[in-house]
Amino acid sequence: MATRSTVDADNLSMNLATPGDAPLLPDTLCYLNGEYAALRDAKVSVLDRGFIFGDGVYEVLPAYGGKLFRFEQHMARLERSLAELRIPNPLPRDQWLTIARRLIASLQATQGFAHQLIYIQITRGVAVRDHAMTPGLTPTVFVMGGEMKLASAGQREQGVACVTADDFRWQKAHIKSTSLLGSVFSRQIAVDAGVVETVMFRDGLLSEGASSNVWVVKDGAVLGPPKDHLVLEGIRFGLIEELCRAQGLRFELRRVTRAEVLAADELLLSSATKEVLPITTLDGVPVGHGAQRGRPGPVYARLYASYQQAVAAQSA
Ligand code: PDD
Repeated sequence: MATRSTVDADNLSMNLATPGDAPLLPDTLCYLNGEYAALRDAKVSVLDRGFIFGDGVYEVLPAYGGKLFRFEQHMARLERSLAELRIPNPLPRDQWLTIARRLIASLQATQGFAHQLIYIQITRGVAVRDHAMTPGLTPTVFVMGGEMKLASAGQREQGVACVTADDFRWQKAHIKSTSLLGSVFSRQIAVDAGVVETVMFRDGLLSEGASSNVWVVKDGAVLGPPKDHLVLEGIRFGLIEELCRAQGLRFELRRVTRAEVLAADELLLSSATKEVLPITTLDGVPVGHGAQRGRPGPVYARLYASYQQAVAAQSA
């Protein structure tokens, strides 16, 4: 008899159906290499370079009430990641949009999630194992959908706790690559500490979270690291800059020291699912000063409100 349960895999959660003792796998619709199938039935070759080498890229797109948010920006980043790996983009943007919309419609019809996430993965393809970038392969194209679980009201009211750690990932963090073991280790540091995210430093300078960008608020200005090879340029990177400009907040990208992070008035996380979220405790120490200490601050409140306006004013 089928059993039903729910998993939360970094916010991609969905109903599960399984016959007998088989592992719990979702039966939601996915897209694989031109075909639509139930997720639990979709299969790729063991020689897929994504499986063998993590030789692929991915995207995670948020959809609010079925509407994709910042679709074009996610596509532009996907194209940049593919170009870095010298993998040809297998589909034009309108076809990516068609697939994403079809999966969202299926989720809406079968799952009733308020908000959805679309996950796209492209690998170099299937080949006899050889480290070099085997040319001329047909890329493997996979797209799935799930629930987008946004931060809870409690997290928004109280803020969240984070810990710090060295950024031991590689030096091509700007590529949204499926080679994510560094991020897996980094996130596990947070899980082991019972907190939401790990804030990483490379040589004493702020880089980012395991799967989010990190912002420092000081004297009314919003500071973040430069857009270079050491961080992933989140789609919220450009959005937060836009929102700061709209709010008349100074926005600056430059090297930010650990001392500046520890002395911040406010600290913020951003990602597709976190939107913009206040960090109120770092390594067990409350963030901020005075009456504001350990509480979400005024810059967070302004950016979150204007983020919601941007969502309301959207798009695809
Ligand atoms: N992660 N930095 C890293 C290392 C990330 O993995 C992510 C997103 C971000 C924020 O990017 P965006 O604003 O485009 O969500 C920054 C996604 C959500 C993930 O891996 O699931």
